[in-house]
Amino acid sequence: MTPLGVLRPVSEESLGSPERFAALKRKIQEGTATVGVVGLGYVGLPLACAFAEKGYPTTGFEVDAEKPRRIAAGSSYIGDISDEDLGRAKAGGRLKATTDFSLLKEQDAIIICVPTPLRKSKDPDISYILAATHEIEKTLRPGQLIILESTTYPGTTREILLPAFTRKDFQLGRDFFLAFSPERVDPGNKEYKIHNTPKVVGGATPRCLELSALLYGKVARHVFPVTSLEVAEMAKLLENTFRAVNIGMVNEMAMMCGRLGISISEVVEAAKTKPFGYMPFYPGPGIGGHCIPLDPHYLAWKMRTLDFEPRFIELAGAINSRMPEYVVERAEDILNLEQGKALSRSQVLVLGVSYKKDISDMRESPAIEVIEHLLLKKARVSYHDPYVAELEVAGSQLRSVALDERAVSSSDLVLIVTDHSAVDYGLVVQRAQLVLDTRNVLKDRAEHKIFRL
Ligand SMILES: NC(=O)c1ccc[n+]([C@@H]2O[C@H](COP(=O)([O-])OP(=O)(O)OC[C@H]3O[C@@H](n4cnc5c(N)ncnc54)[C@H](O)[C@@H]3O)[C@@H](O)[C@H]2O)c1
Repeated sequence: MTPLGVLRPVSEESLGSPERFAALKRKIQEGTATVGVVGLGYVGLPLACAFAEKGYPTTGFEVDAEKPRRIAAGSSYIGDISDEDLGRAKAGGRLKATTDFSLLKEQDAIIICVPTPLRKSKDPDISYILAATHEIEKTLRPGQLIILESTTYPGTTREILLPAFTRKDFQLGRDFFLAFSPERVDPGNKEYKIHNTPKVVGGATPRCLELSALLYGKVARHVFPVTSLEVAEMAKLLENTFRAVNIGMVNEMAMMCGRLGISISEVVEAAKTKPFGYMPFYPGPGIGGHCIPLDPHYLAWKMRTLDFEPRFIELAGAINSRMPEYVVERAEDILNLEQGKALSRSQVLVLGVSYKKDISDMRESPAIEVIEHLLLKKARVSYHDPYVAELEVAGSQLRSVALDERAVSSSDLVLIVTDHSAVDYGLVVQRAQLVLDTRNVLKDRAEHKIFRL
């Protein structure tokens, strides 16, 4: 068994004069530090805009040439950033985007926000981090601060980035600085943005921590420094594993309630009246997005390399990934028991297919598996989603249908998978023959044709 390694911060006293540290600190304080953001997706673009808006000359680095083109044209492709937000960030030429990675050399601080997916085997795919690291390494110069934001397993920053940047005459804490700061953005969340979500930061050395905390303090109201890179990496995994496990538990509770013939929603509403020691989680058709279904597996993988079997993660993963099939079984029972119909001869209208409400992100959306199971059982499936115009499921191309009286009343069952706010639920309740509401969006309606998890 190999423990993670020495987690004590590197001593900087022996490194000599801290002139590069002092120069970068001054630039960050004065607002003249150049900021590079590598990867301009859901995480990177809002972050780049935040620094640019604060006046830092900011450059985004992308492999997808379409994104710099869109940014140059002032046309945002991320729901949380409007064209006006982008325009404000670009004002005075403060935000640029490029595919030319040689310009990384000009950046004082470089923040990496590239994807961290899983391989089919559910092992981490850190190839994007490796590629970004390699680009930075090629142009690395004295005085640069590099921060990894991509969610990853504990040890990545120290084991992958640090050796790539360290050379005999190029020392951490003297010539370059390294930190990890987990991203906590919640796409579609109107209340919590970068400025009002506390930013956890761990540095490879005390100077690295000081510089990165100072930098983030310019865009986030609260910065929470921690004593190591690994604590910062692990904090993110605790947050997301906490969600995955609790969602898994309440999903299993929903199945238990189904067996007991009682309503999980009512049980949760009752439990949440307790003013302490309880925090409500809600059942649903499964988990989606780039974070909750994936991140715990990064931790599980790492722990298995240390001969540690992470049981909560495996169990929550098993329960959550069973939910789409469970939802289809419920749909089948409802059609059968209420109207004597077979699913194979029924028309099912799926409402909402993105992984959560009010956004268009389809990554890991449980709706895909729900539709796959419906198709496997030979149901005729249509869907409506105001944010997703078309969809490919198991080789079938589907297009979002208009949500009108005909679409609703001609369906044997309306299956609410994602509870978008813009949907006319009044029409659904009025016209549907049967509704299975997996999100409890119709919680105030008592009609007998409405069924819940
Ligand atoms: N989306 C979220 O809600 C969220 C929340 C917290 C943390 N995270 C984490 O943040 C990281 C980024 O997630 P995201 O949702 O922004 O992903 P994304 O797919 O939306 O964006 C990543 C971008 O990086 C680009 N890219 C890929 N390789 C690159 C490279 N070598 N150089 C430059 N650009 C490159 C891609 O073209 C893409 O535009 C992931 O680790 C994710 O787990 C995401």
